[in-house]
Amino acid sequence: MTAQEVRASDGGTSASSATGPLDGDRPADGTGGGALAHNYHPLPVTVASAEGSWVTDVTGRRYLDLLAGYSALNFGHRHPALVDAATRQLGRVTLTSRAFDHDLLHPFAEALAALVGPLTTGGADSLVLPMNTGAEAVETAIKTARKWGYDVKGVPPGEATVVVGSGNFHGRTTTIVSFSDDADARRGFDPYTPGFRLVPYADADAVAAAIDDTTVAVLLEPVQGESGVVVPPDDYWPRLRAITTARDVLLVADEIQSGLGRAGATLATETWGVRPDLVTLGKALGGGIVPVSAVVGRRDVLEVLTPGTHGSTFGGNPLACAVGLAVVDLLRTGEPQRRARELGAGFQDRLTGLVDAGLLDGVRGLGLWAGLDLDPARGTGRDLCEALLARGVLAKDTHGSTIRLAPPLTIAAEDLETGLSALEDALTDLARGR
Ligand SMILES: Cc1ncc(COP(=O)(O)O)c(C=O)c1O
Repeated sequence: MTAQEVRASDGGTSASSATGPLDGDRPADGTGGGALAHNYHPLPVTVASAEGSWVTDVTGRRYLDLLAGYSALNFGHRHPALVDAATRQLGRVTLTSRAFDHDLLHPFAEALAALVGPLTTGGADSLVLPMNTGAEAVETAIKTARKWGYDVKGVPPGEATVVVGSGNFHGRTTTIVSFSDDADARRGFDPYTPGFRLVPYADADAVAAAIDDTTVAVLLEPVQGESGVVVPPDDYWPRLRAITTARDVLLVADEIQSGLGRAGATLATETWGVRPDLVTLGKALGGGIVPVSAVVGRRDVLEVLTPGTHGSTFGGNPLACAVGLAVVDLLRTGEPQRRARELGAGFQDRLTGLVDAGLLDGVRGLGLWAGLDLDPARGTGRDLCEALLARGVLAKDTHGSTIRLAPPLTIAAEDLETGLSALEDALTDLARGR
């Protein structure tokens, strides 16, 4: 397998690297063996248990988790309140399908609408549509926007367009990869779904120029996670809001990675005082326990979906709602968001210090979330992640020489310092060519 093919199978999120066998005859670099399909290129660590910010591997070695499941573990591993909610629900009812209601479905929708609705133009009267994975939430938002375009805006049948940004990552479905510009994510999966206009990210003029009478939505990540935590200029989202409002186009923020505390607020779009029309949520909404996603926002928009037009066997299941309700309870306190802001300030300063010291080429970030660029002459992102792994720290490369750090928002300040010291040590060794 070539490096190019490995990147293709790992979502373009890693470079190739060979490592030795881990257990039995199964190579530790995920290059095959056994029955598992090879669509990822994991670091050579096999986790057996986890608690809070720490995981333990099958040999008993502990690692500090600075990836936190790509932000799915914002509250750490096995948060007691979330495990408790899940455990209690396991003893009651776990699945009904949407053929029947259950007693947590409406409470979950109401709690999430109360938390997130006011941060959208839907306000307190917002609707919530629960799904499972992030990609499903994005698909739901696209379908909703198209149907709104035909039923309400009056776009001619078959002509709806959605404006998206370069470097986007919204998931892996056939439609979503149709508007990705990551060749590895796209190649071999055509024919592609039409109706998307790709414009440069962080360029509001390009969005304005791409909109015409067929445009139903602008769909963007507030901060691009997979692209290496790319933070747009401060006037980008306010300008997007003004442009989409003026043209009667829905502004859809994919907050699946950026939302639920990560960026120092419930939604990253709050950073710029912008209320999107629809938001997609996922990852941390499931508390690191079960996949839970949702679309939240304007009632008049989500109301275009009627029975039979969209659905999911598992979306809004009782176990998901029990965990999701407990997640909303945690966020309602404001504590995870406050920790992301307060710990995040020191974290960003410390990383900037590593740039000033010549150990990193650049750093970008918001809250407790950062993309780090290593000088490619010193190694790949994978090399840095392996050096961190050797020092007992888990992180993951995105593209080339960039890695992403997304510690649990519950991380102890001293644990974060332990991780940052390990990072400095690893970078110092790479700078010395070791
Ligand atoms: C912004 C964004 N949208 C959507 C997704 C897809 O989520 P999932 O992997 O749960 O389908 C991701 C996953 O990384 C993401 O970061």
